[in-house]
Amino acid sequence: MVQIDAKILVNEGIGPQRHKMALYAPQIGRQAKPGQFIHVRVSNNFPPLLRRPFSIHRVEGQKIEILYKVVGKGTEILSEKKRGEYLDILGPLGKGYRLPSATSKISDIILVAGGTGVASLLFLAEAISVANAELSILVLIGAKNREELLCEEDFRRLGCRVEVATENGSRGYKGLASDLLENYLPLSEDRPKPAVFACGPSEMLKRIGKISRKHRFPCQVSLEERLACGVGACLGCVVKAKGSSYTYKRVCKDGPVFDAGELIW
Ligand SMILES: Cc1cc2nc3c(=O)[nH]c(=O)nc-3n(C[C@H](O)[C@H](O)[C@H](O)COP(=O)(O)OP(=O)(O)OC[C@H]3O[C@@H](n4cnc5c(N)ncnc54)[C@H](O)[C@@H]3O)c2cc1C
Ligand code: FES
Repeated sequence: MVQIDAKILVNEGIGPQRHKMALYAPQIGRQAKPGQFIHVRVSNNFPPLLRRPFSIHRVEGQKIEILYKVVGKGTEILSEKKRGEYLDILGPLGKGYRLPSATSKISDIILVAGGTGVASLLFLAEAISVANAELSILVLIGAKNREELLCEEDFRRLGCRVEVATENGSRGYKGLASDLLENYLPLSEDRPKPAVFACGPSEMLKRIGKISRKHRFPCQVSLEERLACGVGACLGCVVKAKGSSYTYKRVCKDGPVFDAGELIW
């Protein structure tokens, strides 16, 4: 993990309140694994006092990318940054996704993304297609409406099969990405189990956790809780997990990626 002032190479809008930012950060890019995040100080002024976490979306050469949605003050300040300015960032942080090994007995990979949850899953899809090109990857992307669907073409370019769901039915299946997963699974009941990786709103992850228990497939989820320190020191981000009775895990340090089965939802 390093703390650097990273030069902003690109900061552009890619949809309603959605932006992509590229940063010159070779030190972070070299170490980054899918599912890890950077912690960004969006301003030298206060507020906002705390850094804001964003998944590493892609690593390309010397640059890293994040994909973010403007939801409040911090992300609004971030969206106003210009090319050539510098950002104080910390990373890569957290434990990322565990990639399936070449010998694992899984039929294929299913990635389920809700909203900006696609950010970490594109990096994961790239890593899987390099490490294990034999595995087929199905990507299920959900958003409120067609304008908010992200990264479809990026996944297709990698050779992934992509299905989309929108809550208002303006594109693809009318409903949620978790519905697409549930509809797909009975078809594959007699085949080896897929491995599922999911990132998105907590309600979606909770639902996917339930589906994974019912159909007994391995499932990793990446949580997007609110963070404070981001490095495991303040206990401000704990979630309840299974222990001898129960225990607490830090999203920033023990996660943000967890086995769905280890969490108490
Ligand atoms: C490990 C991790 C990775 C993340 N990756 C991404 C990413 O790739 N792209 C992206 O757009 N966002 C991501 N997030 C969420 C992002 O960090 C928050 O949206 C951001 O910090 C909000 O800052 P803000 O100052 O704009 O909003 P605030 O002013 O702090 O909050 C505005 C509104 O958003 C809600 N909110 C703020 N943070 C969160 C959160 N973490 N979860 C749910 N609701 C929240 C608040 O309750 C409030 O209603 C990630 C979060 C974590 C923990
Ligand atoms: S945010 Fe401080 S321990 Fe996780």
